[in-house]
Order: sequence, then C-alpha cells, then structure tokens
Amino acid sequence: MRKPATESNPFLIRAARPDEAEAIAALIQRAFGEYRGKLRPESGALLETPETLKAAMKTGTILLAERAGRILGCVSVRRRDDCAYAGRLAVEPMERGIGVGRALLAAVEAQARQIGSDRLRVDVRLKLRDNRAFFRALGFKEGAERCHAGFSRPTYVEMEKTLI
Ligand SMILES: CC(C)(COP(=O)(O)OP(=O)(O)OC[C@H]1O[C@@H](n2cnc3c(N)ncnc32)[C@H](O)[C@@H]1OP(=O)(O)O)[C@@H](O)C(=O)NCCC(=O)NCCS
Repeated sequence: MRKPATESNPFLIRAARPDEAEAIAALIQRAFGEYRGKLRPESGALLETPETLKAAMKTGTILLAERAGRILGCVSVRRRDDCAYAGRLAVEPMERGIGVGRALLAAVEAQARQIGSDRLRVDVRLKLRDNRAFFRALGFKEGAERCHAGFSRPTYVEMEKTLI
C-alpha cells in the first residue's frame, strides 16, 4: 500500500521493507521508552528487535508514516482470530500531536478491510489512561479486561472498532 501525502494527509503512509527493521526497532524503543520500568509486565514493545520485526512483516504488515524521507511513526497490522489486530503504534516523541497516529490508524483500517476484516482490535494497558482516551477518540470501544500470563489481575483491555 502506498498512500501519498496530500494537503489533508501530510504524511506518506507505506509498507515497511525488511531492510528498515533496524530503524523501526530504534523508533519503537524511543517511543515506548517512557514506559520502561513503569508497567508490569514490562511493555512487550521494548523487546522488539530487527529480527522480530522482520518476522512480523512476514505474518502481517508494518506501516510507516514518513515525511520528507524521514520515518515519523509505525504500526503493525495482521489478522488475529476473527478480526484485524493492530499493535506497536509508535510515533517519534518530537512528532506527536500533529496527526501521525491518526493517519497510521486510518491506514490500518484500510488494510484491515483489504484483508477482509470488519473489526479492528488493539490491546491497551489498563494503566495507560491517555492511550485508552486516544483510542476512544478514534472510535474504539473498550471490551473485556484481560490478564497477561502469570498475572491474576487484569492488566490490559481489548479495544475494538467496527469498520463500516
Ligand atoms: C499514542 C500515540 C501513538 C499518539 O500518536 P500521535 O501522533 O501523537 O496522535 P495524533 O496526533 O494523531 O492524535 C490523534 C487524536 O488523538 C488525540 N490524542 C493524542 N494523544 C492523546 C492522549 N495522550 N490522550 C488523549 N487523546 C490523545 C489527539 O488530540 C487527536 O485528536 P484530534 O485530532 O481531535 O486533536 C503516541 O503518543 C505514542 O507513540 N505514544 C507512545 C507509544 C504508545 O503508547 N503507543 C500506543 C500503545 S497502545
């Protein structure tokens, strides 16, 4: 998928290539670094490596938002169970609040439809209230609260958007 920048969408959204896995891993570390030591269990995003990202490009797609040749953000999307699942949404700390996350999620929705899904799901840590508000603002509804393996209390909530 290649969605060119336009006046209403100033970012180029495109699929990542395997040779970009190192740059994407570094971006994810910068974006999720603020959670280091603050979440239990630790954010799985911090465990991503170029190898895990290359594997994710085989089972699904990693979309990038780019401006003037510079990667500003990324998100992964793949089919999971009976819906499309998005993860690792990450925007460069200095580029937040200008619509990169929104543009990436709009592209994820298009991709989800392409793979035949009418529902898009994300898992969000219960503790990250700002992120829950972010996804609610983009049309996601909170569903079941779940526990990570080895935890007896819920740690994350499934959020879902019906694609029309
Ligand atoms: C969450 C994140 C992806 C948002 O990206 P972003 O590019 O700053 O978001 P956008 O600028 O596209 O904002 C989209 C909308 O959400 C709102 N929003 C953005 N951040 C928000 C927040 N923390 N709380 C509530 N609303 C928020 C914006 O106001 C905007 O709405 P508007 O267009 O009506 O003003 C980014 O902060 C990030 O990378 N965080 C660290 C990694 C992370 O937590 N990823 C998500 C894991 S679940």
